[in-house]
Amino acid sequence: MSIQRVGVLGAGQMGAGIAQVAAMSGYDVVMTDISEAQLERAKAGMEKSLSKLVAKERISAADKDAALSRLTLSTEMSSHAEADIVVEAVTEHEPLKMELLQQLDEVLGPDAILASNTSSISITRLAAVTQRAERFIGMHFMNPVPIMKLVEVIRGLETSDATFEATRELAEAMGKTVVVAQDFPGFIVNRVLIPMLNEAVYALYEGVASAEDIDAAMKLGTNQPMGPLTLADFIGLDTVLAIAQVLHEGLGDSKYRPCPLLRQYVDAGRLGRKVGRGFFDYRT
Ligand code: CAA
Repeated sequence: MSIQRVGVLGAGQMGAGIAQVAAMSGYDVVMTDISEAQLERAKAGMEKSLSKLVAKERISAADKDAALSRLTLSTEMSSHAEADIVVEAVTEHEPLKMELLQQLDEVLGPDAILASNTSSISITRLAAVTQRAERFIGMHFMNPVPIMKLVEVIRGLETSDATFEATRELAEAMGKTVVVAQDFPGFIVNRVLIPMLNEAVYALYEGVASAEDIDAAMKLGTNQPMGPLTLADFIGLDTVLAIAQVLHEGLGDSKYRPCPLLRQYVDAGRLGRKVGRGFFDYRT
């Protein structure tokens, strides 16, 4: 099947990034969210990101205008009725995803593909709440979507070959490199990344070193672009905790237990860069 119209459900940092890159790649994009204010914030973020890409001469000013003109924002789920594929990118909370996926399933045409950008939840289990398990797939983008080259594609138990091929083609047309992961908790990236971030929080919790020194050690000592605590703040500590819980419950090994300090930061509302404060302060 040929994909022309792409829907994105959820206008958070991932949804906005996916919508932006799809629009830059020539697709007509509809992005929906229940919150008008969130849609406005997402649009402002996309304009800023596109302007950065123009300033770096990666795209022209005309490309930026064309991408924005291909983008429609809406608070109505029914706006996805004409989509060839919808990528769900709402909060990493299983009951919420299930409820919204069921609603989307009813709105979409019979041939449309439903993809979830979940970073760790079982694709097979999410697919099972819809009537289109053959046309359901995991399409996991990395943050920031306009910059990061990877998309993990995850097949559920019932995902058809045609769905897989159409999704892979879409990701490649969006300029991404595809890796294929089996449907196990955390897939590839988060299976490896989240235990490292959680371990950095343990190092802080146990007083091994200051947050600044933990990050400096990993940045300068292992050539990572950002230290693990900065990266956790960047992803969002609520998301890091949610993925750590999925790994812990899904794999059943105590080595995945989330650090109590991570829980405490989330309980306190210090969720990272998106709220101005996490392990570091971004308010100045
Ligand atoms: N849109 C457009 N351009 C952007 C951008 C955006 N949203 N964000 C950054 N950039 C550009 C900058 O303009 C800059 O361009 P040049 O290289 O041409 O100068 C470049 O990206 C680098 O940005 P900065 O100089 O501002 O800062 P930096 O060098 O620290 O890079 C970063 C920022 C690309 C985010 C880098 O720090 C990085 O790669 N960090 C790690 C990111 C990462 O690991 N992401 C995966 C998280 S895990 C995940 O997403 C999965 C999950 O499920 C949790």
